[in-house]
Amino acid sequence: MFSAQTYQDRRSVLQTNVAGGVLLFLGNIENPVNFEHNPYYFRQDSTYLYYFGIQEPRIAAIIDIDENKTIVFGDELSIDDIVWMGRQETLKDKCLKSGVQETLPYAELSQYLSKVQNSGRKVHYLPPYQSSNKILLSDILGIKIAELQPSVEMIKAIVKQRSIKEAQEIVQIEQAVNVSNEMHLLAMRVARPDVKEYEVANAIQYLAANKECQMSYPPIVTINGGILHNHYRLNTLKEGDLFLNDSGAETSMGYAGDLTRTFPVSKTFTTKQKEMYEIVLNAFNNAQRLLKPGVRFKDIHLKASQHLVEGLVDLGLMKGNPEDAVKNHAHTLFFQCGLGHMMGLDVHDMEDLGEQYIGYTEEDPKDTKTFGLKSLRLGKSLESGFVVTVEPGIYMIPELIDIWQAENKNADFINYDKVYEYRNFGGIRVEDDFLITDDGYRLLGDGLIKTVEEIENYRAEHLA
Ligand code: GLY
Ligand code: MN
Ligand code: MN
Repeated sequence: MFSAQTYQDRRSVLQTNVAGGVLLFLGNIENPVNFEHNPYYFRQDSTYLYYFGIQEPRIAAIIDIDENKTIVFGDELSIDDIVWMGRQETLKDKCLKSGVQETLPYAELSQYLSKVQNSGRKVHYLPPYQSSNKILLSDILGIKIAELQPSVEMIKAIVKQRSIKEAQEIVQIEQAVNVSNEMHLLAMRVARPDVKEYEVANAIQYLAANKECQMSYPPIVTINGGILHNHYRLNTLKEGDLFLNDSGAETSMGYAGDLTRTFPVSKTFTTKQKEMYEIVLNAFNNAQRLLKPGVRFKDIHLKASQHLVEGLVDLGLMKGNPEDAVKNHAHTLFFQCGLGHMMGLDVHDMEDLGEQYIGYTEEDPKDTKTFGLKSLRLGKSLESGFVVTVEPGIYMIPELIDIWQAENKNADFINYDKVYEYRNFGGIRVEDDFLITDDGYRLLGDGLIKTVEEIENYRAEHLA
């Protein structure tokens, strides 16, 4: 945990940014796998972690703005619990570390909130994502799940605060990124012909576990990098394949890293792979240089798309004016997603609070319809203190190519004959994590090799 003062300060800032009423924070529960006492790995809700830091299932908290009170709701272990689980730090002690003096049994939450509602005061709550919290809110507030109305005022105040990372948060994120760097170097040492994808995945998860880290998301370790979030891991690596590793560690306090490297299973890239890799790397380098407060991330995304098109024109897969190609969304045949996202306590930071509030503004809302832009999680202007990923890629998706070709879609910009030669090429992505600073950006972590030369040299050294 950070200091009690940290959590107290964060809560008082939040309190001043919401006009009145009661702010409700619901922690997560241990979700059962197949019966109640066999749960999935427990991960506390990130907003709960941010304002209270307490890692314990089935707790809640309120900040009563009108009465200037903060209460944590939860239960101490019963003697039965202690028989099975042993004595543990009490909830009371954990609350004191969070600067909270007052605790009440979990069952009293409902009563407290009913009183607030009956006195005509507002209960602010966030969009629930765990089913148990959806049911709980519905029961307590007497509203159908589909009719729950999360507080936009609370969401906006939290997003404003959590978007700007504190120095101590950056330390945590850099720890996560540095463990992620080690995971990626290990993958580059382990991956070779005849190894299974899951062997690489297992190796990097073992490394992270030995550093007291979890995965910040299920790792994407695949020879089918064209599938954006591919979790199938039974393939055997063979000479000539490209290997895509998108994985990141999460520290014990919950902060994420999120890195991608793509490298050949053979010791060197083929010419075709190298040409394509250089296009992605060029888009990455140019995008990185544009990171600065005041610059719209959507503009960096569009610029990166243009750089991808320029490279694809040189290779003969695309044609025409690159700027016009991007205006017509022709690049989305190869780059179907967004250039990056916010990162922090969540790998896609605060995504549970709603992308419109995290990545966009009311004046410049998210395009939720256009293929490509609808997957851009961050579009608004950058601010000093944001942590973002930059992750351009080129993905060959045979099914998508077939649909576009059948429609002759964007035929002014796409050479379908040439694309046919690449339809089973797979995908390439390069991803790093950056802090936006007052005058630009800073790469987080100690840096991870990414040029063709660096990767080939490292592989040559370790695959001997
Ligand atoms: N690992 C998921 C992403 O890069 O957004
Ligand atoms: Mn990412
Ligand atoms: Mn990633």
